[in-house]
Amino acid sequence: MEENTGLSKSTNFRLLANKLGISDKYEKYLEYIFGNKNVSLDNGYVCYEEENEKIAEIIPKDKIVIDVGCSFGLQHLLYKDHKFYVGIQKFVDGHNAWDGFKPMFRTFTDNSIILEGWFRDFAPMLEPFIRGREDQFFGIAYSSIWNAPQANDDDIRWFKRLFPKNYFASETGKRIYYES
Ligand SMILES: C[S@@+](CC[C@H](N)C(=O)[O-])C[C@H]1O[C@@H](n2cnc3c(N)ncnc32)[C@H](O)[C@@H]1O
Repeated sequence: MEENTGLSKSTNFRLLANKLGISDKYEKYLEYIFGNKNVSLDNGYVCYEEENEKIAEIIPKDKIVIDVGCSFGLQHLLYKDHKFYVGIQKFVDGHNAWDGFKPMFRTFTDNSIILEGWFRDFAPMLEPFIRGREDQFFGIAYSSIWNAPQANDDDIRWFKRLFPKNYFASETGKRIYYES
């Protein structure tokens, strides 16, 4: 059964969940995700494990991480020793779930949260917390808003404004650099 569901790909994070002693809860969340009829299993996997592992490694532990387009946010496990992890996700393009799908998000660490919605709607609320403390934050936009730059014009402007220096951004297969 596993080979067609994506469950077979979640090896690294499963090992991590095991190490954290949360295997049961984590497996239930995977079953919820991959068993959900709203989740597309044909077009992609719900989380790029290896890429997220590399990104997490380059981010200093004292940062508050804001992960834009985090999908189901399974990668929050990688940030258990960071200051805080905030995932922001709106399903929109049918890549890993259908437009409008609002899943039951879960996190399994006490320093993480996932917010359902557009980044452009949360950004104005985040700004007062980040302004003047930019060094404490780190923005991730991995294979998310830059994959559809026109539709995400506002989101990209906000991302550059909130994360002038500390960021990792990409479109599929290509790292984004911007002048800061
Ligand atoms: C390729 S997927 C997940 C990539 C994820 N960062 C990872 O590493 O596995 C990108 C997700 O970002 C979501 N997304 C795109 N634009 C967004 C926006 N402006 N605000 C919130 N989520 C967005 C898409 O719906 C999609 O589910």
